[in-house]
Amino acid sequence: MSSTKVALVTGAGQGIGRAIALQLANDGFDVAVADLSFQEEKALGVVAEIEALGRKAIFVSADVSKREDVVAAVSAAADTLGSFDVIVNNAGIAQVKPISEITEEELNKIFQINVNSVVFGIQAAAAKFAELGVKGKIISAASIAAIQGFPILGAYSATKFAVRGITQVAAQELAPQGITVNAYAPGIVGTGMWDLIDERLSEINGKPRGQNLKENVDSISLGRIETPEDVAGVVSFFASEKADYVTGQVLLVDGGMLYN
Ligand SMILES: NC(=O)c1ccc[n+]([C@@H]2O[C@H](COP(=O)([O-])OP(=O)(O)OC[C@H]3O[C@@H](n4cnc5c(N)ncnc54)[C@H](O)[C@@H]3O)[C@@H](O)[C@H]2O)c1
Repeated sequence: MSSTKVALVTGAGQGIGRAIALQLANDGFDVAVADLSFQEEKALGVVAEIEALGRKAIFVSADVSKREDVVAAVSAAADTLGSFDVIVNNAGIAQVKPISEITEEELNKIFQINVNSVVFGIQAAAAKFAELGVKGKIISAASIAAIQGFPILGAYSATKFAVRGITQVAAQELAPQGITVNAYAPGIVGTGMWDLIDERLSEINGKPRGQNLKENVDSISLGRIETPEDVAGVVSFFASEKADYVTGQVLLVDGGMLYN
């Protein structure tokens, strides 16, 4: 068995997940890069970037809305990389729609991807930690929309509030096993997700493309858009021994948008 710690990051083919995977590799972790099968090429690029840092990495094809995929991804990471210490339940989608227009199908879809996935990730990781006798760390993607509801992001906000609730519950239930459970709450990160949000907001309020993003960024105290690396720094902390006494927390990493 390897003594190097192993982390699994979902949705790691691009955006915030990619930055987290690279940061954890820089921190000394071997990393399983999980994403949907259509993202394989991008994910293999992330695997190559991690290997270039001198760490081991694998791509795991997984749809996190399916419990069996998440369980299989955790097993693949542990079996191939030789340990299992951290799961980052990062994969998620956004939907931009007034609440009166959200369909049942859309609601089910966003809950399956943003919420069910986190429950599956917690279950699969906790079982693997118990099997290996590891005091592991579970880290999930929340959002500023987990702390405050944002108009036209109703379903998304609901899923992220749910992640916050699950994080608090799992922290208490898994503490006797020495497992910590936390979440990061980014603000406005320049990824594919915000390209989509800006595009949809433009369709809804008629502002030119880029205008909604600019107005939101203008409201950030630190005066700039967030980078995936800004988020990865917080995840690096949660995954480290420095956070051994931190559990059940949702940490805002938003450059100063919400104050609680
Ligand atoms: N971008 C932001 O401003 C922002 C702000 C707050 C929170 N977040 C959260 O951060 C996380 C990452 O967001 P991002 O901005 O990097 O998004 P992104 O769209 O750039 O990347 C998301 C990744 O998740 C993958 N994914 C989507 N559905 C999946 C599924 N069913 N199974 C496996 N993988 C799946 C995608 O293929 C993609 O690689 C999400 O949970 C998001 O809600 C993002």
